[in-house]
Amino acid sequence: MIFTVAIDGPAAAGKGTISRAVAARFGFAHLDTGLLYRAVGAKGGDPVAAAESLSAEDLARGDLRSLAAGQAASRVAVIPEVRAALTEFQRRFARQPGGAVLDGRDIGTVICPEAEVKLYVTASPEVRAHRRWLEVGGDEAEVLAEVRERDARDMGRADAPLRPAEEAEILDTSEMTIEAAVAAAVALIEAAL
Ligand code: C5P
Repeated sequence: MIFTVAIDGPAAAGKGTISRAVAARFGFAHLDTGLLYRAVGAKGGDPVAAAESLSAEDLARGDLRSLAAGQAASRVAVIPEVRAALTEFQRRFARQPGGAVLDGRDIGTVICPEAEVKLYVTASPEVRAHRRWLEVGGDEAEVLAEVRERDARDMGRADAPLRPAEEAEILDTSEMTIEAAVAAAVALIEAAL
């Protein structure tokens, strides 16, 4: 069975948690595509060369989850040649037999417009910053500023800007428990299977 679930949205909206939960529930493979951009940003040097030579080792680095790595990722993610170098791998992953969930910014719009289910997960910047702050600590106002800066860069770039695909179901998790958000995603997938 070829079946793709595309989950897009801004940082800390709940995409990762929802993606992992639905992948486990339906037995689908899961790809966190943000990790690809984080690994390119963390590798340093020429980002296009880094994207073209990305290895499993690069993806296994322990420092990819930091705020700084997120900012570095969004800076290299504006470069069209970086995005192009990562496209084929993501497309193949999306259409592998057995079903796949991909979460990112452009899965439903660019990587897999033919995805059977498209979900756009969002929440207010304040709620997302608070969630991220609970994970990383530090100064919450600074985390909010980082979230806003990354949103602006991801939504404002010319190539594959963050936006909901036309047919995407919008899930605003600002006032939702994670269980309710997962249940909504599961219901959508069940209806499409
Ligand atoms: O989702 P995550 O926060 O790990 O993504 C890090 C950055 O990578 C994003 O802010 C975005 O700039 C970039 N990204 C992207 N396209 C994707 C996934 C992530 O441009 N599909």
